[in-house]
Amino acid sequence: MADSKASLTVHDKSHDYDVLSGSVGPDVIDIRKLYGQTGAFTFDPGFTSTASCESKLTYIDGDKGVLLHRGYPIDQLAEHSTFMEVAYLLLRGELPKRKELDQFTYTISRHTMLHEQLIQFYRGFRRDAHPMAIMCGVVGALSAFYHDSTDITDPDQRMIASHRLIAKMPTIAAMAYKYSVGQPFMYPDNSLGYSGNFLRMTFGVPAEPFEVNPVVEQAMRTIFILHADHEQNASTSTVRLAGSSGANPFACIAAGIACLWGPAHGGANEAALNMLREIGTPDRIPEYIARAKDKDDPFRLMGFGHRVYKNYDPRAKVMQKTAEAVLKEMGVNDPIFDVARELEQIALNDEYFIEKKLYPNVDFYSGVILSAIGFPTSMFTALFALARTVGWVAQWNEMISDPDQKIGRPRQLYTGPTQRDYVPVDRR
Ligand code: CMC
Repeated sequence: MADSKASLTVHDKSHDYDVLSGSVGPDVIDIRKLYGQTGAFTFDPGFTSTASCESKLTYIDGDKGVLLHRGYPIDQLAEHSTFMEVAYLLLRGELPKRKELDQFTYTISRHTMLHEQLIQFYRGFRRDAHPMAIMCGVVGALSAFYHDSTDITDPDQRMIASHRLIAKMPTIAAMAYKYSVGQPFMYPDNSLGYSGNFLRMTFGVPAEPFEVNPVVEQAMRTIFILHADHEQNASTSTVRLAGSSGANPFACIAAGIACLWGPAHGGANEAALNMLREIGTPDRIPEYIARAKDKDDPFRLMGFGHRVYKNYDPRAKVMQKTAEAVLKEMGVNDPIFDVARELEQIALNDEYFIEKKLYPNVDFYSGVILSAIGFPTSMFTALFALARTVGWVAQWNEMISDPDQKIGRPRQLYTGPTQRDYVPVDRR
């Protein structure tokens, strides 16, 4: 809705632009006609002030530390919901009725297996390959196996591809883990729930029955819910940009996985745990706080700070509670949890962190939990990718369903050489 106008003067000429309001959150200035009218682009590297799309999925108020999926607060979903329900909510727009939830859960469970030939892919990777490298490759390769769900103009095919991705991701991630430790792949057991099945495929072995620990299963479910979507973050924007060209859904999600891998994004949970281990004991915290504040030292407190949250990340609060429950259940007395808690307190009371509004983010405690469950650090980001697949496919579907969808094509401020003539190699 255009409620008011913003005017911009370029080269002494003034132009009016509609100011659009969403249902909540900051207004946006609609500059789609700017280039045509003024011959100028806007300049916003890192998209710090740019809304790249319209979306009805997820809302974040970074100043208040609020995260809503389709209007529902993340802490309520984490406490009362299931991952299947959140997946349905994100994909379809409303919480499911009992029958709809049962049907959706059944549908997902029918897609958990991988094509047998796809399983051969794993052998092509070195034994010490990072699980994210395997996931980029295997997920991208799904497009070569499921031709009946790559026509993106068909809403039914889009939904089948989405179901396949949500269903197969735990199998793909668990197999990446099994491959790295040299154990046989475990096939899905659809009598288990989504999280329990994943735990069994990861930690079970064919020689013994596997008991799903309910506390660990609940923690896994919570972690999946907390990571399901986060509006237009780097990997989601990557999925949207890749999808805007009409690329098939499996290729788009593989692109999202590649982006998520970076330490400033999904890779931060791995980096945060490594940092906590490096600090080792609470008495070394001041040294690391000093390094984080030192402008000449590239070190950052991993698991701290966020582009959008300038308050406590609401997911971090849930994560902290989950960490306590898991450590208690597993009887783990890991000093890194003490380091984490104390580091958090010191940073929250430090002038530098207060002034820059740096608070713990979702990744600060997730590594502690995953490590206590038994995951190696290299699997942390793979679990993030598994959960975020729900958000990626929901965002991708939303974009493709939009009749005004265009290929994403940012412009640039060019500062390279102007036109010059080619000089043959022996005259340079
Ligand atoms: N430790 C120390 N200083 C920091 C940190 C940190 N973790 N994060 C930001 N700063 C400082 C930074 O040096 C800069 O200072 P100055 O203004 O003096 O140059 C200021 O705070 C603003 O930082 P920025 O890099 O301009 O902020 P950004 O919005 O571009 O970066 C971020 C956001 C998440 C990349 C960054 O906070 C960071 O690198 N954090 C550590 C990595 C991390 O935990 N990432 C996980 C994000 S949550 C999961 C996800 O969504 O993927």
